[in-house]
Amino acid sequence: MEEKKIILETRKLTVRFGGLTAVNSVSMSVPEGSITGIIGPNGAGKTTLFNMITAAVEPSSGQVIYNGASILGLGPDEIARIGISRTFQNIRVCSRMTALENVIISIQRVPPYSVFAAMLGLPSVKRKDREAREQALGYLKMLGIGSYANSLASEMPYGQQRRLEIARAIATRPKLLLLDEPAAGMNNEECRELTGLIRELREKLDLTVVLIEHHMEVVMRLCDNIYVLNLGSLLREGKPSQIQSDAEVIKAYLGEKRRRN
Ligand SMILES: Nc1ncnc2c1ncn2[C@@H]1O[C@H](COP(=O)(O)OP(=O)(O)OP(=O)(O)O)[C@@H](O)[C@H]1O
Ligand SMILES: [Mg+2]
Repeated sequence: MEEKKIILETRKLTVRFGGLTAVNSVSMSVPEGSITGIIGPNGAGKTTLFNMITAAVEPSSGQVIYNGASILGLGPDEIARIGISRTFQNIRVCSRMTALENVIISIQRVPPYSVFAAMLGLPSVKRKDREAREQALGYLKMLGIGSYANSLASEMPYGQQRRLEIARAIATRPKLLLLDEPAAGMNNEECRELTGLIRELREKLDLTVVLIEHHMEVVMRLCDNIYVLNLGSLLREGKPSQIQSDAEVIKAYLGEKRRRN
């Protein structure tokens, strides 16, 4: 059998914030085309891992390898340009813009034309702007929120704002999509719909997905492989069936519930 190409790899990735080691020597590898899950109790370091991959946080040590090359030192826009995109745990859409405008901004983040041409107002720019609107509408429809195109983001129902967040992320045409708790705050029905949607996007757009999620049903249904973080360190890696029945994993989660109650 042919070995799957590894699109993303972290090697002993570590970050310290003062005295706290938020992520401690985490190594993981993500095969191209897969859906990889990252789970773990609150404060485990999951979001911080995404922040390091996308250049929002600088690692203290370790490596991030994308398509075989180190990407440490690149800025957030360069990260977007090489094909990595993410959503945020706390929705970051621009609430005073329409859904369509939110997606257009994202499309233009990875510019289809030169800034020089834009300054001159060349006809090609006007055509590209029209194309961007059409593309943006296409992304909204893909997420099932086409009817909200001209609604202000702030006036969309919460679940649809989460979908808009994903539409924005795919509008930069990524190869690797990092989703930070896309199902947060959703009910069971919405979770099921979102699960189908993520799978569909992966197929249509030829994506590799890394998914942070607390809804176990979503994780177990979607993921090919799961990494479990606890207190910044890697606790386990395995297939959903292995992780689901792992005593240490269950203990980490039960511990979290006890702390919360
Ligand atoms: N920029 C920062 N400065 C200082 N501490 C931080 C920073 N970012 C994260 N932390 C701390 O690092 C730890 C890991 O946080 P992180 O947000 O990665 O956890 P998480 O696994 O995403 O948790 P949750 O499930 O609650 O989203 C936490 O203790 C958090 O307070
Ligand atoms: Mg988080």
